[in-house]
Amino acid sequence: MKKIENSKIFINNHLDLFQCPICKDHFTPIQDYQLVCSNHHSFDLSKKGTVHFLLKQPQNEYNKDMLQSRRLIAEDGLWYPVLKNIVSEVNCKNGVHLDVGCGEGSHLQHLIKLGLEGTNIGFDISKDAIQLASAEYTNAFWCVADLAQSPFASNSYDTIFNILSPSNYKEFDRLLKPGGQVIKVVPSEKYLIEIRELIGKNNTPYSNKDVLNKFYQHYPNADRITVSYDHNLNSEMWEHLLNMTPLSWNIEESNKEQLILAPSEKITIEMEILVGAKD
Ligand SMILES: C[S@@+](CC[C@H](N)C(=O)[O-])C[C@H]1O[C@@H](n2cnc3c(N)ncnc32)[C@H](O)[C@@H]1O
Ligand SMILES: [Zn+2]
Repeated sequence: MKKIENSKIFINNHLDLFQCPICKDHFTPIQDYQLVCSNHHSFDLSKKGTVHFLLKQPQNEYNKDMLQSRRLIAEDGLWYPVLKNIVSEVNCKNGVHLDVGCGEGSHLQHLIKLGLEGTNIGFDISKDAIQLASAEYTNAFWCVADLAQSPFASNSYDTIFNILSPSNYKEFDRLLKPGGQVIKVVPSEKYLIEIRELIGKNNTPYSNKDVLNKFYQHYPNADRITVSYDHNLNSEMWEHLLNMTPLSWNIEESNKEQLILAPSEKITIEMEILVGAKD
């Protein structure tokens, strides 16, 4: 079946998971590949089966080339041990899961591979990211949306994944069912330290203290799991790593070329997984 047909069926079966991002009203069942709310705001389904819910075009930091590199390094397993820990923290594996700022979709895809079941939705503000996700991964619903004006219904989600992406705790509270979980992943001091040292960004070591404090303010009983390991790299993956990380975005092209020519054989991954639950 065509992707657009699959998505139409998915949305019609899960209309209660969505709301109009403009007036917050419910959508009516899809006809003619258009999602329409009771106030006649409408959003088209694309041929790939995605829906574009943005009201204005955002500034896009990730281009397709960077997203492709992120996909390749993700599929090389850079974050697999982190994802394995995440899936074991999910209380309701068969529930409704939302990946906030899902990027090109590999994390959600891998979580499904590791045993996440139920209903899976990934969204990102980047159209290019969602195009990549929907082109490759068909076992989740993908849409372009802004966390600040989201098209998702209140009290409807069992799990929110918030992996290296922005947070909006007020919005998370609105979206989660009572008892629903927010699983947030943030880098720790040693995350990608080899790159930080090479580009001289480690004079002031990275600190995640403010992010952690903010999380604990919202979820005082949160659990915290530190995951730390080395990932081996070949020179091709080293180049993709440099290409995809925001750390190297501001360095001059000639410096970047030099870094590419001096590959590191391993990279340090050190991250915190924070798990909070709505009362
Ligand atoms: C560092 S990337 C992480 C992507 C993915 N979670 C990963 O770990 O590979 C941050 C992502 O958040 C997305 N993002 C930023 N602001 C957003 C917003 N307001 N709503 C939805 N996504 C947003 C970006 O487009 C980007 O894909
Ligand atoms: Zn509306």
